[in-house]
Amino acid sequence: MFKWGIIGLGRIANKFAKELKETGVGELAAVGSRDITKAEAFAKEYGAARAFGSYEELVGHGGLDAVYVATPHHLHAYCTSKCLEAGLPVLCEKPFTINKHELTGLIHQARVHQVFLMEAMWTRFLPHILYLKSLHDSGRLGRLLHLRADFAFKGKERASAQGVSRLVVNELGGGSLLDIGVYPVFLAQLLLGVPAVIQAEATILNEIDETCQVILKDAEGITAYLESSILWESDTSAQLFYEKGSVLLPRRWHERGEMIIKPENGEAEIKNWDYPNRGFYYQIKEVQDCVQAGKLESDLMPLHFSLQIMDTLDRIRTLIGLKYPADLMK
Ligand SMILES: NC(=O)c1ccc[n+]([C@@H]2O[C@H](COP(=O)([O-])OP(=O)(O)OC[C@H]3O[C@@H](n4cnc5c(N)ncnc54)[C@H](OP(=O)(O)O)[C@@H]3O)[C@@H](O)[C@H]2O)c1
Repeated sequence: MFKWGIIGLGRIANKFAKELKETGVGELAAVGSRDITKAEAFAKEYGAARAFGSYEELVGHGGLDAVYVATPHHLHAYCTSKCLEAGLPVLCEKPFTINKHELTGLIHQARVHQVFLMEAMWTRFLPHILYLKSLHDSGRLGRLLHLRADFAFKGKERASAQGVSRLVVNELGGGSLLDIGVYPVFLAQLLLGVPAVIQAEATILNEIDETCQVILKDAEGITAYLESSILWESDTSAQLFYEKGSVLLPRRWHERGEMIIKPENGEAEIKNWDYPNRGFYYQIKEVQDCVQAGKLESDLMPLHFSLQIMDTLDRIRTLIGLKYPADLMK
């Protein structure tokens, strides 16, 4: 069985571990936390054989087939780098890093050490997104003319209920763009490619963007309007307007398999995909298959694509004047 280690035992690590346990796709072999008591409790709950009281100990232990990095964004580069140095394949949470400079360093390291590396953009592997991409590429609805996608939830409210949350702390990479705005940017670039022009506006308070609005335009003038917010709850939908029809992903487009395809001259087609658990299964399987086949990156979520997304996030942050401590290290 494929042996996973997890670094950083927060909300998403729990979901990942639950999915491993319930689907049986891989084995949770070891977990690393800054707190050994927390690591032991987590290991017990999800059946991991080993628990470590530091991230470095987990990396040094060996015996793992891959590590899932699930810390706040500001630690992604450090933790991933430690794993790569030790020759451990890595699945690192989104946003891959704080900026392009950090990600360029990780990609270089992965190539030098010949180790697998991938951003945990799990949405890319969900069957409804695979379908959307093939529908887009097929040209059945003609050329894409415009795309609109958002991701908004009351993260700020949740953060204050929890006390201090990574979501609202600049030093931890807080704000809406890096945390959830990365999903609409991913979708736009999956379908439109690298933008030629970017416009952006944000509401910045206490050094984090509470909301961010972005327009991307490609070389042919095709536009995407993208929005993220940690102030309000939206349907988190996506809409694509083609020459010969439209496609709507009505709610939680990044995780729910619902799609309405409306050809201009024809009946609307409603499609549904049912995902057991959260749907992490598909990205977990992708990592396992790649590592077992000796591949160094995924064909569906290659490193140059993550780098293009990170470059766009950097360009947006320059436009809205949002900086993080890691930007000063360039
Ligand atoms: N794929 C998805 O659907 C999805 C959803 C939510 C979040 N994410 C991503 O996953 C990452 C973690 O998010 P999360 O929601 O799980 O965060 P979280 O609940 O705050 O957990 C993060 C964990 O990181 C560790 N950590 C290390 N330094 C920390 C610090 N200074 N402050 C707080 N925690 C620190 C802690 O683990 P220890 O105490 O064990 O060291 C903490 O439990 C983020 O990069 C986020 O973007 C992905």
